[in-house]
Amino acid sequence: MKRCILILILFSVIVSQAQQLQTKFQPAPAWLKTAAFYQIYPQSFKDTDGDGIGDINGIISKLDYLKWLGIDAIWLNPCFESSFQDAGYDVTDFYRVAKRYGTNADLERLFKEAHKRKMRVCLDLVAGHTSIDHPWFKASQSAVRNEFSDRYIWTNDSTVKPLKHISGKFERNGTYRKNFFDCQPALNYGFANPEPNQPWQLPVTAEGPQKTRKELMKIMDFWMTMGCDGFRVDMAPSLIKNDPDRVETNKLWAEIRNHFQQRFPEGILIAEWGNPMRAIKAGFMMDFIIHLGNDGYSSLFFNKEGTYRHDTCYFNVEGNGTPTTFVNYYLEQLKRVGDSGYVCVPTANHDFQRPNCGTRNTDEQLRTVTAFLMTIPGVPLFYYGDEIGMKFIPGLPSKEGSQLTKGNRAGSRTPMQWDSSPNAGFSTASPDKFYLPIDSSAYRPNVESEMANPSSLLHFNRYLLQLRKQYPALGTRGAIRFLYAEANKYPLVYERSANGQRFVIVINPSGKSVQADCPFSGAVKEFKPVLVDRSSLLKVKDKLQIKADGVSYGIFQVVE
Ligand code: GLC
Repeated sequence: MKRCILILILFSVIVSQAQQLQTKFQPAPAWLKTAAFYQIYPQSFKDTDGDGIGDINGIISKLDYLKWLGIDAIWLNPCFESSFQDAGYDVTDFYRVAKRYGTNADLERLFKEAHKRKMRVCLDLVAGHTSIDHPWFKASQSAVRNEFSDRYIWTNDSTVKPLKHISGKFERNGTYRKNFFDCQPALNYGFANPEPNQPWQLPVTAEGPQKTRKELMKIMDFWMTMGCDGFRVDMAPSLIKNDPDRVETNKLWAEIRNHFQQRFPEGILIAEWGNPMRAIKAGFMMDFIIHLGNDGYSSLFFNKEGTYRHDTCYFNVEGNGTPTTFVNYYLEQLKRVGDSGYVCVPTANHDFQRPNCGTRNTDEQLRTVTAFLMTIPGVPLFYYGDEIGMKFIPGLPSKEGSQLTKGNRAGSRTPMQWDSSPNAGFSTASPDKFYLPIDSSAYRPNVESEMANPSSLLHFNRYLLQLRKQYPALGTRGAIRFLYAEANKYPLVYERSANGQRFVIVINPSGKSVQADCPFSGAVKEFKPVLVDRSSLLKVKDKLQIKADGVSYGIFQVVE
């Protein structure tokens, strides 16, 4: 009898845990399905007060441009008070806009001005750590126990230095756990599996970790109440320590999502996880396929010259890359994410190289990149400047922690190029005051000239965003089927479809003319060119014959 009861209890515990893991969330807001995103690195976008650093008023002054481009939502890198040892990812006050960017009132005005134009603004939420200069961290260093003693992860002996722990001259007897750089102490959300005999590893239910969690929700509520539309959460899987199966991490984000959606049903939560199926299971609505975790993204875009260097990549004139690493990973992600969230494959971000990098530097080459990225399922995102083909600038000095062991991120963080004037319309300050030097190439691209030229890359990218809106088959939720995606081969060919409409897309980033064929059944009257440069399709019996010149692309509508 006793045994039966025990088994029953055990069974119900297992069932309730399993249910918790499969928490069903309210669906993500509908607007995400058709939204095009734009990432702004505020330091480098537009300076209106002449200090050489971009600001919020600068962003407001460019909203009409972004609207014209077809952007629906902005993700802004951190704009809060900071010591700027990691470009703002080392926050000293989560409730205040950094002076160099303006004031909280400016940010509130940005929300309002964006909303007037039916655009949204998401902030960057650095949830896992603060700056060492944050008053909470200073208080936590005290030998006297206080409100903040357990808000960070401290050992109880300064001679004990586990992995990722930093020692220093603290009044408190201990070493602290960092989250990224040494200057970024990890906030304490607790340990999923505290080790025995390590009492400093608090369980997630302990008072300190619970207070950290409440504070995070308070920060989110604060900006959302002001008019913010959501967050991109920095290092989202890193919060709970020693959680190999992410059980507690998932519970944490589920609690946050439920709290958030109850109050702000139109708000969105984006993860920096680098593994959409995991992030969405945890409660996020969107996540990126980027340089993290898997080689899919890198194998497409990282060449010999960027922040992260790879010998070869698929989008490379040498034509010695392979598409399969990406394709397999991406298809698996799409399948596992299904309708419960969104995948986003961005043009770049502030942590790695832009498409225009090293030998991938011509207008045609950049068109193959965006023709691809803007015609695959998932939410489209332009990193600022990529719409005009701004260059990754090699060889810059490290700025605000841009240098990592693997490479320098500064090359993707240089001032936006608005016009052909000497300062590129970025700032009126003298160039030595600029956050980072502007691209010094004689023919650097700029918004004004490209806007005036209907055949520019900017117009091309704008048109791609329009096509996505015009044809759901090309949009975020349209289906994809790869028709030709062979190891070490070019071109890449796929079909997109929705509501009975079909498109075939051919992308050849290599410098070689290529031909391929693949099975293709059903009657076809015509492959109507929608946006094509030097590629063609022909149906012969049950086969599709594809021809693509060196560095070419084609978007064809299937007319039956
Ligand atoms: C994220 C950010 C990166 C930052 C790091 C630490 O990866 O994207 O820029 O340095 O987290 O916060």
